[in-house]
Amino acid sequence: MSHTSTLPGAPHLHYQNQELMLEGVSLNSLAKEHGTPLFVYSKASMLEALSHYKRGFEGRNARVHYAMKANSSLAILQLFASEGCGFDIVSLGELERALRAGGKAQDVIFSGVGKTRSEIKAALEHGILCFNVESAPELEVINEVALSLGKKAPISVRVNPNVDAKTHPYISTGLKGNKFGVAHEETLNLYAHAHQLAGIYIVGIDCHIGSQITTMEPYIDALNKVLDLVEQIESQLGIELHHIDFGGGLGINYHGETPPMADDLWKRLWSVIDARGFGNRLFMVEPGRSLVGNAGVCLSEIQYLKPGEQKNFCIIDAAMNDLPRPAMYEAYHAIVPLQKSVGAQANSVVYDVVGPVCESGDWIGRDRELSVLQGDLLAVLSTGAYCMSMSSNYNTRGRPPEVLVDQGQSHLIRQRESLEDQLRLESLIPTTP
Ligand code: LLP
Repeated sequence: MSHTSTLPGAPHLHYQNQELMLEGVSLNSLAKEHGTPLFVYSKASMLEALSHYKRGFEGRNARVHYAMKANSSLAILQLFASEGCGFDIVSLGELERALRAGGKAQDVIFSGVGKTRSEIKAALEHGILCFNVESAPELEVINEVALSLGKKAPISVRVNPNVDAKTHPYISTGLKGNKFGVAHEETLNLYAHAHQLAGIYIVGIDCHIGSQITTMEPYIDALNKVLDLVEQIESQLGIELHHIDFGGGLGINYHGETPPMADDLWKRLWSVIDARGFGNRLFMVEPGRSLVGNAGVCLSEIQYLKPGEQKNFCIIDAAMNDLPRPAMYEAYHAIVPLQKSVGAQANSVVYDVVGPVCESGDWIGRDRELSVLQGDLLAVLSTGAYCMSMSSNYNTRGRPPEVLVDQGQSHLIRQRESLEDQLRLESLIPTTP
């Protein structure tokens, strides 16, 4: 007997004969082969997510620049590069990753509030597409570095439109109190100033209002504000903006959220854009989570079931160092057994699913009803974005391996980090004999 279930957000994840499969590959067998914790990603899910953007951009002058901070594993970058995506980066390390994965510097946008001189220099030497400038002092530094190289730096100003993205405060970026972008009211002056600088040429405008956005309204508000600015910059300053970068931020289904699909969102946005006469302008987006988030699962083994007076704990071998989102944002990730039949022998109990790290904040899921036994395998869902890329070695835990499944085949794309990998850069101080 086989059936498809309604697992949140994961289009290629389903139970077949009580066993959880991702794109036709048994997750149980991958856990046996590679051990746990283990990240597994579905290529088809990523392509499907990308196809919504492609559909939304059909017949339009628009491009996807994958925000690689969401998941910067080389094989995943390789996939997006081969699909024609550019990249949104926030460090020189990310630029090097993009290039090694087959990306081209001229398709790279450099975001972030704290670009260093050496990063700016390297990015200019590589010939990136655009710097998204986040402050007046940063503009000065980019100008200086460009002049010292005898170059002109292509820039956009990232405007902070003061729009509430209605998401978690830690991942909201477009409000006045955020460190990101240039205040809407100051943008015009900064463009006028940038126009005077010999090491700068202005190519566009940029805006990113937050992450895990689940409704269209904040986007529409931000779009109108950005287009108001474009009109002012072009008519009052006579500066022509080649592109409008509208950032990332589209949410995914972790726990029943119903964010718009990228094509539906863009249908709506194009209607505003067309009505305001900007239909022929080049638009760019920087999605991260919506391309990879629901494509990944993290497999983990139950080490102990620990009954308590107030809480029952299900202690697994994945922890906050592998899956930092619950500890950082109280984020919800669904947790399901890899084999349903095993659970049938167990009582259904409400557990806090926790890791072995020595922190009370090391929880992965709270108050989850599970029918499980010690040694069972679980999958933590929607862990393709901001999990592996935010993982750490806290408690001297090696980071998990990563596997990409593709039409029934599986590829190990990153090995498990060994203790030697972790210790390689460290040394003892000399001791006197
Ligand atoms: N562009 C810029 C300038 C950004 O700062 C970000 C994300 C993106 C694009 C991509 O946003 P996305 O499409 O992925 O929402 N670690 C947090 C999310 C932090 C997002 C940071 N910036 C989390 O796990 O929820």
